[in-house]
Amino acid sequence: MTLERPIVITGFMGCGKSKVARALARRLNVPVIDLDDVITAKHGRTPAQLITEDGEPAFRSIESNTLRELLKTVPSGVIALGGGAWIEEPNREMIDQYGCVSVWLDAPFEVCWGRIKISDEDRPLGRTREQALKLYERRKPIYQLAAIHIQRRADEELEDIISRIIKTISAADVRR
Ligand code: S3P
Repeated sequence: MTLERPIVITGFMGCGKSKVARALARRLNVPVIDLDDVITAKHGRTPAQLITEDGEPAFRSIESNTLRELLKTVPSGVIALGGGAWIEEPNREMIDQYGCVSVWLDAPFEVCWGRIKISDEDRPLGRTREQALKLYERRKPIYQLAAIHIQRRADEELEDIISRIIKTISAADVRR
């Protein structure tokens, strides 16, 4: 598959967006960009620090502006979003406007929570199981709006997920 427009990977915290985005970009031989990393490099603070110190609305505004700049300047490649970026309607509109293919990496809550729990990364919006589960349920119908839905299967090799994503995108004919 030749990639002519950006692929945007979305999904809940801990679903494996960054890892899948890196592997997908490697396979397609295109650049990979992690929105959270771009925010951290630009602001000298991680999304978690921004949320904790300045509040979620301030972070969302930074996230949105960074995404816009990114979409303006990056003609193709794979972009891994933070788990909340797709939830904001203006971001979804932007993603659509720039002709990106959106992919929802759908992992069961217990898989996501299992990873969140043991991760070194602070996730202020998912510090307790209860808080994370509420957010997961609230967000699920919005992730569903992505063009491509990839359900993570138990024990599926990373390279097999990548093949499935590429096949699904090709079959859906969402390429230009
Ligand atoms: C968030 C997810 C995080 C990060 C921030 C907010 C969210 O990214 O952007 O803590 O709202 O779901 P990951 O999905 O990579 O954990």
